[in-house]
Amino acid sequence: MNFLELVHTRQSVRRYSAKPVENELVLKCLEAARLAPSASNSQPWRFIIVDEPGLRQKVAQATITQNLINSFSLRAPVIIVIVVEKPKLLTQFAGWLKKREFEWTDLGITAEHICLQATELGLGTCMIGWFNEPKIIQLLNIPSNKRIGLVITMGYPAENYLLRKKIRKKIETLVSYNKW
Ligand SMILES: Cc1cc2nc3c(=O)[nH]c(=O)nc-3n(C[C@H](O)[C@H](O)[C@H](O)COP(=O)(O)O)c2cc1C
Repeated sequence: MNFLELVHTRQSVRRYSAKPVENELVLKCLEAARLAPSASNSQPWRFIIVDEPGLRQKVAQATITQNLINSFSLRAPVIIVIVVEKPKLLTQFAGWLKKREFEWTDLGITAEHICLQATELGLGTCMIGWFNEPKIIQLLNIPSNKRIGLVITMGYPAENYLLRKKIRKKIETLVSYNKW
């Protein structure tokens, strides 16, 4: 698979097979995450792998609202919680000067590294941004002053899970040359 094929193949997978995910594959995804770029190389992230079934169900439950949103997370064999750390002081200062929270940009990059690596390994992922943050902080003993950036579900896609056509804005509405 070349890179663009990999990008086309990655999609949010919301139905998983019961097949467990080998720990070495999860670690490979986190190696890809570890190597992601970040502002001033701050690497402002921590990754919590939630694979213990009882705890995983509780964390999954904390992403669900009234059985409408994110119920699929209950059937994901692995959940990865990405905690946002404070960047280096230099980056914090630069962010304050420029009114930017670079750590949230960094978070998105590392999260996508996880999902792309998982895709290459034949795994499916879904990034989840809708979750009960205080509840997950409590469940995983995360210090209460930390923020959770994203939750990622991971597993082998269910049998017959089809690759969907990407629905995206047209390139000419997104790109311009030399001016707005
Ligand atoms: C920051 C972020 C938060 C997201 N939160 C959720 C979520 O809470 N639940 C969900 O089912 N999908 C969530 N998604 C997945 C998006 O809905 C999905 O990426 C988008 O519709 C494009 O589809 P694709 O990933 O299949 O290409 C999230 C994606 C991102 C990047």
